[in-house]
Amino acid sequence: MKSVTFIFLIVLFYHQNFYIRCFIPDTKNCAKSPDHVSLIENGPCNIPVLTEPISQHEFLNKYAFSSPVIFRFSDKETSKNMHFQQKCQLDNLKEEFGEKFVTVSSANTYSYKRYSMKLANYLDSYIFPFDKMQNQPELKYGNETWYFFGENNFTEWKTLFDLYHRPSYELPEHTHAYSFGIARFYTGVPFHFHGPVFAETLVGRKRWFLYEPNQAPNFDPDKSTLHWFLEEYPKLPLTKKPLECILKPLEVIYFPDKWMHATLNIDNVVFISTFLSP
Ligand SMILES: *[C@@H]1O[C@H](CO)[C@@H](O)[C@H](O)[C@H]1NC(C)=O
Ligand SMILES: *[C@@H]1O[C@H](CO)[C@@H](O)[C@H](O)[C@H]1NC(C)=O
Repeated sequence: MKSVTFIFLIVLFYHQNFYIRCFIPDTKNCAKSPDHVSLIENGPCNIPVLTEPISQHEFLNKYAFSSPVIFRFSDKETSKNMHFQQKCQLDNLKEEFGEKFVTVSSANTYSYKRYSMKLANYLDSYIFPFDKMQNQPELKYGNETWYFFGENNFTEWKTLFDLYHRPSYELPEHTHAYSFGIARFYTGVPFHFHGPVFAETLVGRKRWFLYEPNQAPNFDPDKSTLHWFLEEYPKLPLTKKPLECILKPLEVIYFPDKWMHATLNIDNVVFISTFLSP
């Protein structure tokens, strides 16, 4: 009896490994061995995390111009976005906004290619058919991954964005603009930079990698973050490792102007960023 259980466990283990190996890009015949899922979905968090709101004054002094920070507040603090979060579930978005056109672009550093499609088509073609445990999305090149983020039509989507309570901290003389998007698990945007931003997901987890301005790591702008993560990140000496953290829904990351960053979506994600600009 015991040996039957043993064989059963071996078979189960083999099967799990088979799936784990097979959806990783560029693996020769699915034969790469470490547990990639665990590597992708677990990581350190070496960015300051605040669990209680701070004053605007403290935000300006400690973080606004100098350091990334994560707001991991209690349910009580984040409950104001519960309704927004509910509306952001993929099925709800499809039902309410499925017929609206969205702009999708290729997820490389410079996002060269873009086109317009109905949200329902985007979800039906690029999100819903894929299952973490059974599919092998081709993720080697960022330019081959379609990503919906930004260029939102705030007239058509007003009912949704009106529900969002953005992080309450301000930068003097800066205005804010939202970018909203949806992306499939294991996609992401390779390293790039822009102005200061608050970012959060409403659905799914997102892993963030950051470097100080002008500390760009080696990366190929056409390759996906997943490719960088599996091929380059493990080779980095400790002193060159990025700051990083995995954010769960309703946690917010802030980072100042020109910080280099890349993202890796751990799940199918719905997310919103608040860009601050002078
Ligand atoms: C994406 O980039 C790679 C490398 O630059 C290239 O070989 C490939 O043809 C590109 N794919 C598309 C769809 O443009
Ligand atoms: C946004 O949607 C409205 C209503 O459909 C349309 O008239 C307008 O041209 C759109 N704006 C942009 C920037 O696409």
